[in-house]
Amino acid sequence: MAAERINGKQIVAEIREQISQEVQSLKDKGIQPGLAVVLVGDDPASAVYVRNKAKSCADVGIHSEVYRLPAETSQSELLQLIGKLNADSHIHGILVQLPLPAHINEDAVIDAISPDKDVDCFHPVNVGNLMIGKPGMLPCTPAGVIEVLKKIGISIEGKHAVVVGRSNIVGKPMAMLLLRENATVTVCHSRTPNMEEITKQADILVVAVGRAQMIEARHIKPGAVVIDVGMNRLDNGKLTGDVHYDDAAQVAGYITPVPGCVGPMTITMLLQNTLQAAKNKAS
Ligand code: GUN
Repeated sequence: MAAERINGKQIVAEIREQISQEVQSLKDKGIQPGLAVVLVGDDPASAVYVRNKAKSCADVGIHSEVYRLPAETSQSELLQLIGKLNADSHIHGILVQLPLPAHINEDAVIDAISPDKDVDCFHPVNVGNLMIGKPGMLPCTPAGVIEVLKKIGISIEGKHAVVVGRSNIVGKPMAMLLLRENATVTVCHSRTPNMEEITKQADILVVAVGRAQMIEARHIKPGAVVIDVGMNRLDNGKLTGDVHYDDAAQVAGYITPVPGCVGPMTITMLLQNTLQAAKNKAS
């Protein structure tokens, strides 16, 4: 039996409607949530992501400012801008699009963002709070994955969740959020031998490795929920995930499309974090 395709568009629309309403009620109290997005250099993929983020803000009534800086921008110039945004009371969230040009130290830039405006949840203070289960900012992509699972009515508690990938942006925080939901969590990565034996045990399989179509039907337990975080471009120009969709859909119970689910959910969680940061300031 073919897997159910998860309707990312509908889930995103529902959550964004809720966010719009909350933004409006904050605005009625004289507060408009504001997000600053900083893009350094001219990476075409980053430019598309940044444009999507600004458009999504406008759609829900969040004020956004995009700072497009030349690739030659020095680290100290970037740190100066972050200092200014940290002090700006109209800005509740700051996002510096990664990757940065090689001459800029990403850690130094992330460390400079005020933790209460760190809507990516990349700052060590927020990463630490996530690790010890303190409430606070949640990382956008992993939080979006948890929302998708909840929206389709999957109970996470007691399930075996396997995360493929161990990046700081997705794999590691994803494992942490699944653990918070009381899943039994295994993390696989490029040095994991016999990965197929492990992924085949997953009730919930989250794939975030950045390798086109590497997960196939043979990696998947019949009926499993497969969440594809990947976004890769094939030689023919088509976008595809880290999961071979048509093959995996023969075995999985549920599967996310790429594009059209995790990407827009990530932006939705960014909007949610910006709204939350504004609410925190208002209270
Ligand atoms: N580059 C790729 N994904 C992300 C993300 O989630 N946040 C930022 N700031 N940069 C990224």
